[in-house]
Amino acid sequence: MATVTRAHPNIALIKYWGKAPGEGNIPATPSLSITLDALTTTTEVTDAEADIFELDGRPVADRKVTECLANLRRHHPVPPLHIRSRNNFPTAAGLASSASGFAALVTAIDAHCNLNLTAQVRSDYARQGSGSAARSIFGGFVALRGPNWQAEPLATPADWPLKVVIAIAAAEAKAVSSSEGMKRSAATSPYYPAWVASTGQDFEAAISLVASQDFAGLAELAEFSCLKMHGLMLSSRPGLIYWNPTTVACMHRVRQLRSNGLPVFFTIDAGPQLKAICLPEAAREVAAALADVDGVHKVLVSGVGDGAALVAKEAGND
Ligand code: DP6
Repeated sequence: MATVTRAHPNIALIKYWGKAPGEGNIPATPSLSITLDALTTTTEVTDAEADIFELDGRPVADRKVTECLANLRRHHPVPPLHIRSRNNFPTAAGLASSASGFAALVTAIDAHCNLNLTAQVRSDYARQGSGSAARSIFGGFVALRGPNWQAEPLATPADWPLKVVIAIAAAEAKAVSSSEGMKRSAATSPYYPAWVASTGQDFEAAISLVASQDFAGLAELAEFSCLKMHGLMLSSRPGLIYWNPTTVACMHRVRQLRSNGLPVFFTIDAGPQLKAICLPEAAREVAAALADVDGVHKVLVSGVGDGAALVAKEAGND
C-alpha cells in the first residue's frame, strides 16, 4: 500500500531565527509566512522491513528524519517505512526544503497509518523536525507563535493572491545549516537578546498588516525583519554571510523597482536566493528585472500555495 502527499515550502516575512532552551524545537521568536505553490515536495510512504529514507532518488541517513519517526512512534503505532521524498527545486539551497519535507512526511505517515491527527498536531510534529515546517502544514498566510507553537492559518491564498518571484543566485547547498547558524547566533551575537525581545512586536504588526492587506506597510516591515535577521547573522562569531554578490545586486534592484512605483519587496533566508514578493500585476516586470541581474541563474514565479495534502492512498505492490 502506498500513500502519497504533497507540501510546499514557505517563506517567512517575519523571521524565525533562534530556539528556546530545552526539548521540542521550540522557536525563540514568533514568525509569519506565505506558502508557495510553485515549489513542491512529493512524499511516498510504503510499508517496509526496516526504515529507509530516500531523497531525490538517493538513500540518505538523516538524523532529523529518524528523530521525527521516533517522536511519532512514542505516541502512535507506526511500522517500519520506506519513505521516498522528491523536491522539484534545489535541496538545501535556502529554498526551505526541510519545511515542505517534514510537512509532507508527517502528513504522509498520518494518512498511511490512519493516525487521524488534526492539522495542529501534524504542525507540532513537523515543527519538531524543522521549525519552519510547522507553517507548511497550512496554506496561504500562516502564523507560528507560542504558547503552543502549532501553526495557524491567517488568510487563504484566494484572500490575498500575491506573487513571489524567486531569483536563484546559486544552486549549491548552503555552508551552515539553519540549526547550526541559530546556535551560533544565540551563543555569540551581542544582538541576540535584542532580536528575541523585538520580534514579538514585528509579528503583531504583521498580523494587522496582513488582515488589512496593507502591502506598503508589509513591504517595509518584512524587509526590516529580514535585514534585522541578517544583521544578527553577520554579528555572530564567525559571521554568517548567506548572501553572495548576486543576492546584494537583487536587493538593490528590488529597492529600485519600488522607488519607481512598483509594489514589490524582498526577503532572504539562510541562503543566497532572493524572494521578491509583489502584487500580481507587477510579477512580470519584477521577474524580467531580476532575470537581468548579473549572476541570476534562473527566476521562478510562484503564487500563494495550499497546505500539505494527501494526493493518493492506494493498495499496491511495495
Ligand atoms: C531563515 O526551520 O530550517 O528560513 O528548526 O533548525 O530546522 P530548524 O530551522 P529552519 O529555519 C528557518 C530559518 C529561516 C527563517 C524562517 O523560515 O522563519
